[in-house]
Amino acid sequence: MARVALVTGGTRGIGAAIAVALKAAGYTVAANYGGNDEAAKAFTAATGIAAYKWDVSSYDACVAGIAQVEAAHGPVDVLVNNAGITRDVMFHKMTKEHWDAVINTNLSSLFNMTRPVWEGMRSRKFGRVICISSINGQKGQMGQVNYSAAKAGDLGFVKALAQEGGRSGITVNAVCPGYIATDMVKAVDPAIIEKNIVAHIPLGRLGEPEEIARAVVFLAADDAGFITGSTLTANGGQYMV
Ligand code: CAA
Repeated sequence: MARVALVTGGTRGIGAAIAVALKAAGYTVAANYGGNDEAAKAFTAATGIAAYKWDVSSYDACVAGIAQVEAAHGPVDVLVNNAGITRDVMFHKMTKEHWDAVINTNLSSLFNMTRPVWEGMRSRKFGRVICISSINGQKGQMGQVNYSAAKAGDLGFVKALAQEGGRSGITVNAVCPGYIATDMVKAVDPAIIEKNIVAHIPLGRLGEPEEIARAVVFLAADDAGFITGSTLTANGGQYMV
């Protein structure tokens, strides 16, 4: 039986590339999404991957959404915590709403999504939890105090949970993408992208979503069974750890 993979934020951007790559690697894939019905519909039509709408910042919504996915496809073996948002603004202009939205969606979602699948993974003695953090959680980024804090928190989550999962055959890892050509990055002023970002990427370009998806497929595989608590960095050399 094919393993079941669930990808949050899985109908656009990096998440969509991950969902497609996992399907190509033989997984039964379900994609969660938060808001864009039109994009989700087009994604399902193009890929045949079922899409489920709920808000990953809500614990109750995650419990209900995961129950729906598991009823349709079976227990989740591979969870990819990919969903994320930005509310970029300098700290002196940042509101509590900017802060809460990013922390709840990019950090608390890891609890909300992982907790409901964790006991099943423990009892089956297998699981893969892969969290998409960011270069900006590693190095910090001006204009992103909220986002950098959440993404750094994701790395702490991974390192602590990996220590708990080991005895049950569950690996927990992070992937830190750099600047990838998605809607999120395209929302940044092109002058800033050119002058402040691409100019500092040794490979001289933005990354492609598929280049992150390949890293996730690698970490999900049986072959990666001795890798846990790690951070796989894919940023074109912009920040070397
Ligand atoms: N790196 C370095 N310098 C940056 C920068 C960046 N990413 N973003 C802005 N700056 C600099 C600007 O060049 C500017 O410098 P000067 O004063 O010398 O001209 C200064 O910071 C202030 O910037 P703005 O004039 O744009 O200030 P603002 O208040 O109008 O806007 C902002 C602030 C909304 C944060 C805007 O600068 C911005 O959107 N910056 C991009 C922030 C960023 O990198 N976001 C990443 C989004 S993609 C993502 O998050 C995915 C991922 O994981 C990598």
